[in-house]
Amino acid sequence: MTGDLSPIDKAKYVAARRAAEMVQDGMRVGLGTGSTAAWMVRRLGERVQEEGLRVKGVPTSTRTAQLARELGIEVVSLDQAGWLDLTIDGADEFDGELNLIKGGGGAHLQEKIVATASDQMVVIADAGKEVETLGAFPLPVEVIPFGWQTTRTLIEEALDTMDVLGTSGALRMNGEAPFVTDEGNHILDLHLQRIGNPRQLALVLNQVPGVVENGLFIDICDKVVIGHGDGRVELRDINEGTIELDQLVEGGENLFSDLAD
Ligand code: A5P
Repeated sequence: MTGDLSPIDKAKYVAARRAAEMVQDGMRVGLGTGSTAAWMVRRLGERVQEEGLRVKGVPTSTRTAQLARELGIEVVSLDQAGWLDLTIDGADEFDGELNLIKGGGGAHLQEKIVATASDQMVVIADAGKEVETLGAFPLPVEVIPFGWQTTRTLIEEALDTMDVLGTSGALRMNGEAPFVTDEGNHILDLHLQRIGNPRQLALVLNQVPGVVENGLFIDICDKVVIGHGDGRVELRDINEGTIELDQLVEGGENLFSDLAD
């Protein structure tokens, strides 16, 4: 029931709802992965049904593809779409320059490709995701299964020369077995605590043989929509240097009352 939604889930919901309004008829839209992105996909599905909005959605994971199809959103591949007008996705952390950590859901490889192939990337997040310095959230790095332990050793050696506080990488598990991404790879979660130079680290990690992609998104995100549990949303545009404030719960109206279970 909607009453069971936590303040964080309400924050995610209002951010997602605000961002879904940015989608215009005829757009090709990258559909992110994760709980916040799922709210956005649901809202987009509503707009398709209620307004007859025509969009082509490029999902960033099999999970999102399935959800979008269930909601009646037309799903196409990135190669079919070619280039996207907009990608809306969640994040695990973002800083003041809108650099991001992504990949908590293990989908950052497709997410980065899709976001980079878009005119605009909009991140949707609850306010707790904002940090001064990235790195408290473990940084996901997708690696191929072959020789992953060697890859981890090489990563940890490379981290010795980086501006980070920790250097250990943990293989992400799914129960008893290693987690497997949509591309058939594994994830190493790097417990760095602080990433002093994200730009440098992103470049260095991708030089290690066996690394497919790291979860640092540098200079990719254009806007962030930050949601709060009371319905306030803040829209920051890093290119324009603007901040807009909005309130999605007004005059006693319960914005959350029409949410499905
Ligand atoms: C998926 O791989 C991630 O990049 C997600 O976008 C990120 O983990 C945010 O997830 P939530 O919206 O569930 O917090």
